[in-house]
Amino acid sequence: MTNEDLAALEGVGPAMSSKLRSAGLTNVETVVVTPPKEIAEKTGIGFNTVLKIVASARKMLNIGFISANELWEKRKNMVKCSLGSEELNKLFGGGIESQAMTELIGEYGVGKTQICFTLCVMAQLPPEKGGLNGNVVFIDTEGTFIPERIFEIATALELDLDPHEILKNIFLARAYNSAHQSLLIEQLFKFCPANNVKLVVVDSMIGHFRGEYIGREHLAERQQKLNSCLHKLLRLTEAYNLPVVITNQVYANPAQVFFGDPNKPTGGHIMAHACTHRIFLRKGARGTRLARVIDSPYLPENSVRFKITAKGVEDVPAPTA
Ligand code: GTP
Ligand code: MG
Repeated sequence: MTNEDLAALEGVGPAMSSKLRSAGLTNVETVVVTPPKEIAEKTGIGFNTVLKIVASARKMLNIGFISANELWEKRKNMVKCSLGSEELNKLFGGGIESQAMTELIGEYGVGKTQICFTLCVMAQLPPEKGGLNGNVVFIDTEGTFIPERIFEIATALELDLDPHEILKNIFLARAYNSAHQSLLIEQLFKFCPANNVKLVVVDSMIGHFRGEYIGREHLAERQQKLNSCLHKLLRLTEAYNLPVVITNQVYANPAQVFFGDPNKPTGGHIMAHACTHRIFLRKGARGTRLARVIDSPYLPENSVRFKITAKGVEDVPAPTA
């Protein structure tokens, strides 16, 4: 997408444009991906007027039936962020991609947060070095964001960038509960374009939801709220051509073994359907870690080995004969 200005839309004058903008609808792409009912509620603009604006936005972006070849062209705009490990990059088909949501799943201490930290640094590099040339938003729901660790990674990678500058370009938001987390996600539609944000991390996506909605009787409500958050993130990936990375926990289910592991991702079908690429992580021998694609529309179901080091995540050296 092309980041079209709202002023170019039929029937949208400065007042209307300002209402849309203050509701986080900052470009024509966001108008197209947001449900009209939600636009009307957020902006106070009448529903029928909203429908006309949305129709005009769709027309401008030529949304409708497109040929598969046009989709091929659109996907060429996709950008990829290196994970700092060749093996992991191979697993992800080159890196964490934009216009998609990538989910890192695994038990405590497996390395989900460490991968996210490495991405926070890599995303700031220029594209020729595997980065996205942009800033990062990190929504921390567990209080596990450690700036010192990012500083260590940035230093160990011996980049041309000053580690302090790298820390300055990571915008951190500590989410204290699921409602706060939803609100922060909502704010991203304004925050990302205004601050050159090219990568969004939510670590973890589900922790607060699991902690707050306990018991079967609250499951439906939890899933509905989680779904709404996930869909907002998905829309963000499309509207601003950026990758979103979320982490997910596991629960033990001995009846269903994932990748030689009785742990199963939490969040049920809602999580499974919303995420584009699902990566399952587990601990391997001698402190190594294994990552496997468990669901993706096009990444093959491979697995690779990596390790957590001062540089964030790195390849495991091949054994010498
Ligand atoms: P939860 O958030 O608890 O679900 O786990 P997680 O998957 O996010 O784990 P995390 O990414 O925090 O990984 C923790 C593991 O990373 C620890 O067990 C350490 O083995 C490793 N680790 C953390 N910091 C460092 C470091 O500075 N150097 C090295 N070499 N390893 C580290
Ligand atoms: Mg973590």
